[in-house]
Amino acid sequence: MAASNFKAKKRLEYKKPDFTATDIDLQFQLADDATVVRATAHYVRLSADPKAPLRLDGEELKLNDVLLNGQSCKYNVTDTELIVSEVPDDFELTTEVVISPARNTSLMGLYKSCGCFCTQCEPEGFRRITYFLDRPDVLAKYRVTIVGPDYGCGVLLSNGNLVESGIKDGLLYSVWEDPFPKPSYLFALVAGAFDIIEDTFVTKSGREVKLALYVDRGAYTRGTWAMQSIKESMAWDERRFNLEYDLDNFNVVAVDFFNFGAMENKGLNIFNSSCVLVDPQTATDTNYYTVQGVIGHEYFHNWTGDRVTLRDWFQLSLKESLTVFRDQEFSSDVNSRVLTRLDAINVIRSRQFAEDAGPMAHPVRPEQVMEMNNFYTVTIYDKGAEVIRMIHTIVGEEKFQKGIADYLARYDGQAATIEDFILTMETASLTDLAQFRRWYSQAGTPEVYAKWAWKSIDDNGNGKAQPALAANIDEKAIAAALNNEVVSDTQESANEECGCDENCKLVLTLTQNTPPTPNQSTKDPFVIPVRTSFLTKDGQSVVPPELPENGVLMFTKEEQSFEFTNLPKDTIPVVLRDFSAPVKLSAMYQTQDYINMLEHCDDPFIRVDSYMSLINAFVHQNIDKVKNGDLPEPTDIIKAISYVINDASIDMQLKAKLIVVPSLISLMETFKKIDLDGLDQTRKELSSLIARALASEYKDLEHKTRSSGKYKYDAQSAAQRALHNAAQYMVALGYLADDNGIKADDLISNAYENANNMTDRLAALSAACELELPCKSKLLDSFEQSYSHDPLTFDKFFSVQAAVSSEETIKVVRKLMDHKCFDITNPNRVRALIGTVGYNNPVALHRRDGMGYLLMLDVVRKLNDINPSVAARILDGLINYRRFDINRINKAEEYLNKMKAIPNLSRSVFEKISSALDSDTKQ
Ligand code: TRP
Ligand code: ZN
Repeated sequence: MAASNFKAKKRLEYKKPDFTATDIDLQFQLADDATVVRATAHYVRLSADPKAPLRLDGEELKLNDVLLNGQSCKYNVTDTELIVSEVPDDFELTTEVVISPARNTSLMGLYKSCGCFCTQCEPEGFRRITYFLDRPDVLAKYRVTIVGPDYGCGVLLSNGNLVESGIKDGLLYSVWEDPFPKPSYLFALVAGAFDIIEDTFVTKSGREVKLALYVDRGAYTRGTWAMQSIKESMAWDERRFNLEYDLDNFNVVAVDFFNFGAMENKGLNIFNSSCVLVDPQTATDTNYYTVQGVIGHEYFHNWTGDRVTLRDWFQLSLKESLTVFRDQEFSSDVNSRVLTRLDAINVIRSRQFAEDAGPMAHPVRPEQVMEMNNFYTVTIYDKGAEVIRMIHTIVGEEKFQKGIADYLARYDGQAATIEDFILTMETASLTDLAQFRRWYSQAGTPEVYAKWAWKSIDDNGNGKAQPALAANIDEKAIAAALNNEVVSDTQESANEECGCDENCKLVLTLTQNTPPTPNQSTKDPFVIPVRTSFLTKDGQSVVPPELPENGVLMFTKEEQSFEFTNLPKDTIPVVLRDFSAPVKLSAMYQTQDYINMLEHCDDPFIRVDSYMSLINAFVHQNIDKVKNGDLPEPTDIIKAISYVINDASIDMQLKAKLIVVPSLISLMETFKKIDLDGLDQTRKELSSLIARALASEYKDLEHKTRSSGKYKYDAQSAAQRALHNAAQYMVALGYLADDNGIKADDLISNAYENANNMTDRLAALSAACELELPCKSKLLDSFEQSYSHDPLTFDKFFSVQAAVSSEETIKVVRKLMDHKCFDITNPNRVRALIGTVGYNNPVALHRRDGMGYLLMLDVVRKLNDINPSVAARILDGLINYRRFDINRINKAEEYLNKMKAIPNLSRSVFEKISSALDSDTKQ
């Protein structure tokens, strides 16, 4: 199909299907190159039109046979459909097709992964297995017979309950029945040889569930943490959401070839092995944390996704956002709330805001989609979860839980919409969410500006204060604030307007504006819950009587004022606590206010944000000076970090983030136009200045946080390692800044050699690479020796080098593509090496000479045919090129145009490239 023939589907064009399927019987005869799939389904006409033909989806299937009620019949086949006309209202249709799992490199449908057969059907992979109504609003009961291939293949799995198994004609077979009707995207099949970790879970009503985790042969011990996480997830969902598992078996399989993290197939979750296998020697604390979170995520889908599913793919966020919210709450409850929240916020601010500012910006409920695989995005998942979190904030835990219970009861066994969900929430909580719905329909990141002034209480005049303030808002200050410049101390101050000492009220005025996004040029105001508190100059928290009990101000207009009394005159409002809405906030804070909040605010997000504001202010003020080599001493920042280091009461995960300079990507988000070279240089030099000024404090901290004894993964020890490794990096940097390269080298080299776990080992290796230490090649060699037999662990060898923030990285990556362990057909390898450049390394990707873009072009040329959805995914960084300078823009477009000319360009790559190249005209 020519690229220009790809058409977008529109949300509002949803039509009910003409037929539904009630039952389907699937028979698989597995073979690498010719698997035979015989499907008999019972179809029932829904359409009023008795002539409407049955149209079944199917792609890349070789059709052997079609029978209608056991008789041959008339039909048409196209590239994408099997059309049977003249069918009765109620009948059985049997099809037999042949497919080739071994040649399926797209990893959608039935494919082979390192010798085992497995499936991935979401969103539209089932049509690559057999002809069917491959849409989420057709729910059928499945009966599946699997006949193994003629060589040893121990395990044959599908959804639901095992009803029969044995050997027939020398072949292994098994029969599965899933009692719950489900859409085709939740179908799964696995066949292969595995190590099996078995356990049981007794639900709160006393039912015993058999748990089994299937991992690569020899990986048994690397699966025990995942099994523990399954049990923890099941217990937590009962505790917090009162939700119990509903089948007798819960099976989880880990495979090595997988497009994303994992998949929630009913009763048979399939995982990327990267989200299952961990042990102290091969996995980092972050890996442990991720495994637990993803296991939780897929398990929680059993209710939010499987029992209640989706009407159509535009509703994707209905299951994903709710399930992300649930997995975040799980991680918070069983792990560390601070770490979980800060991580989630970081995803929004450094990745989702970028998506919102780029050519693929879309609402949480998109209006149009060309390739559904392109919409498994941080907007659908993570911004969606923030939207759910706002509902939770607005209605409170109790009513939220009631809403979820009502929603699951009302729509159990059905395919629902986002509108169904909101309506249920509204009814359950007696809250009007009419305007709130804009979070689902409008794309883009709202920019909120906060200013405040003291007014005499007598100066009430019923609203007089408000217009006066509105007129006072200085456009320049807003613009500056949106670029996170600290308004200078003389420029604006909240105290100017009011001479009174007592009897004052603080008037907080908020304004909001959302910039245009593709296909949406104007936006209406959002409902923004602004969690607020008040802090005096000496760091005391004060509560005015007007503040609602939950601390949340409901900000719903373009501009709105809130008044507070009983506050000492040196009080500042602390707005957007806990990042209570996914917005870009700027405010009339002065440097001293940021320092005050960083040192004294009890909210971790506010502390991180204040810290980042101090850094941003410095960067913005000095980015032009850095080129002449005169960066001033960052005195305020140094003092603030010193305070943080010495404050024993600060959570260690939080502290780890407050003692190093934030990532380049998060700094980028504070600029509308990015001077990439200046920003990278300023950031690096700022880091060195800080490291040097605080050398002895970092050394002290590095020393104090050393862990002794055996590695154990738990929230507390992981936090200590995070803090230790952050301090260690700064110590090494301090040595370098002091021209003491040998000491830096010794420190890092010893840390590597002495590490008794992967977290510490990788931290040392990463420091050696990032800081170009002499020990770098020795450590890389050692890592290669130790792990090149283990592809999953060896991905760290690729990613650590691909992450080095330098233009030279492109050359290194090209060389590593020839490494014997690199395999372009495995998404984990591609993500580790190419993906790291593609979305984590702007300096390398956006190299001035375009060589980063050429790398992407070369990779996409190959990957477009092998695995289109992975090919499209690695382009996320590239298509956001318009924020850079004109030279980079021109180069990026040159290479994107070449990419667009790739023969047989896939729909997914085409959609990304064309949205990038069109976005001039669209915005
Ligand atoms: N629904 C899965 C999840 O969120 C993700 C998913 C969608 C997926 N499409 C996929 C996973 C394709 C693997 C391949 O958990
Ligand atoms: Zn999910």
